Amino acid sequence: MNSPSASTTTSGRVAQEAERRRTFAVISHPDAGKSTLTEALALHAKMISEAGAIHGKSGRKSTVSDWMEMEKARGISVSSTALQFEYGDCVINLVDTPGHSDFSEDTYRVLTAVDAAVMLIDAAKGLEPQTLKLFQVCRHRGIPVITVINKWDRPGRAPLELLDEISERIGLIPTPLFLPVGIAGDFRGLLRRGEDGAAAEYIHFIRTAGGATIAPEEMFTPEQALEREGEPWETAAEESELLSATGQDHDQEMFLAGQTSPVIYASAMLNFGVRELLDTLVALAPAPGPRADIAGTEREPAEPFSAVVFKVQAGMDAAHRDRLAFMRIVSGEFERGMVVTHAQTGRPFATKYALTVFGRERATVDTAYPGDVVGLVNATALGPGHTLYVDKKVEFPPIPSFAPEHFATLRARSAGKYKQFRKAIDQLDSEGVVQVLRNDLRGDASPVLAAVGPMQFEVVTARMQAEFNVETQLDFLPYQLARRTDSESRAELDRQRGVEVFTRSDGAILALFSDKWRLQYIQKEMPELTLELLVAAT
Ligand code: G4P
Repeated sequence: MNSPSASTTTSGRVAQEAERRRTFAVISHPDAGKSTLTEALALHAKMISEAGAIHGKSGRKSTVSDWMEMEKARGISVSSTALQFEYGDCVINLVDTPGHSDFSEDTYRVLTAVDAAVMLIDAAKGLEPQTLKLFQVCRHRGIPVITVINKWDRPGRAPLELLDEISERIGLIPTPLFLPVGIAGDFRGLLRRGEDGAAAEYIHFIRTAGGATIAPEEMFTPEQALEREGEPWETAAEESELLSATGQDHDQEMFLAGQTSPVIYASAMLNFGVRELLDTLVALAPAPGPRADIAGTEREPAEPFSAVVFKVQAGMDAAHRDRLAFMRIVSGEFERGMVVTHAQTGRPFATKYALTVFGRERATVDTAYPGDVVGLVNATALGPGHTLYVDKKVEFPPIPSFAPEHFATLRARSAGKYKQFRKAIDQLDSEGVVQVLRNDLRGDASPVLAAVGPMQFEVVTARMQAEFNVETQLDFLPYQLARRTDSESRAELDRQRGVEVFTRSDGAILALFSDKWRLQYIQKEMPELTLELLVAAT
């Protein structure tokens, strides 16, 4: 038992450690440069000496089967893990979203574990579908967003045009902290905006071979910049004043409220703008704060240990059935080996094996603080959204299920395997691999699986085979979207053509629609029916 003075010291230390942490994720569309940016951030943090060590080009795989093989070879999944590094006085946690181009519920769940997001945009392409979907989740959860416009070293759109697209399409007011000097394709450096949009400084970048080392920077005054760069500098300075005239200057309160987004122009490949991003995260992104429990009471970071599991990942290898539950620490100090309580069952859980995982690297974690992500090994009872705590009881709200867009029935090919099939479905359901829907009509032998991304189905069938030895048959259903309904509306919806109603394993009643026109027609004809949008519905 700690003496009162000892626990005061602990809570002081925890508060200090929490204060210096920044936990964020990158939201982007495939190919925008997330892996390249991650490497560049790690390079800046001096974790690796040369970019490419974490995510070598040769190791980059994109197809489903390659991905599966990759997971198998490693024995565990590499999706949704965290990169931690020190930067100045801060500890930065970059929580990674799945590395393959598939979009799945895991991608969304990561956003429940972070305090800020970096929205990474390709300068030539602007806002792309996956970025938009992820942004909606950030908005829904009130996560502040920093925007990075990437690939400025190659031809793209005009700087202000990209900003207009952001404000027009998603209603987020972009407030650049830096503007590029030189058009896309001729990236010379950044103008740092000062008070009222006046140019404060010119940061000139110097290219290094292949962008493999940190790009040296030279600082100049605005006068020197004008002399050195001429017209490109003048253009950037004018654009900065123009933005101020329309009120597009950084405002910390509005940023934290999700109304504005600081913007940085960068080239992840050349390591330009990466230091500026890190400095921005340190200066502006929020440190871990309190989190409300199911009763609405806030758990402060300095209180006794508590954490939320945001992802569970099982090994793809049958011989190697490890199961990792990734938790984000909400409060207190985590020490490996401590016995915590699993709020959902009230049972104790010994944290003997605690890891950080990034890419191929796994390292044992001995101590961790609010904002940190820790993987717990063989945590069979833990599921996404579950709470762990010590001393002072707490239970956090569950992670919402996200709007599925792909639907299929699944059955065991051989009737003799039905028992294993049921067991496997329950297991995969509890891990949150896929959503499981049932109704009386279809019965239990062929439940409907609902997914945010189609690769979730591939994971289910592969694991059915590898871990449970059940060969399955997957048949896609002609539904495209889902809405949450209630028992009162159910009977009427059941009578409609192009609609089928199911109960999800968490008790939610979902109506599936063949297409959005069918949904719109029913909404118009029967406005009394309950049809609620699920989180991140398109
Ligand atoms: P992702 O994780 O978001 O999917 O993107 P990733 O980092 O893999 O980058 C996708 C492609 O974009 C990569 O090219 C990468 O080199 C390139 N890229 C990323 N950042 C920048 C940048 O700042 N400038 C430029 N010019 N390119 C960038 P690739 O097609 O995999 O190979 P290659 O172009 O190197 O041949």
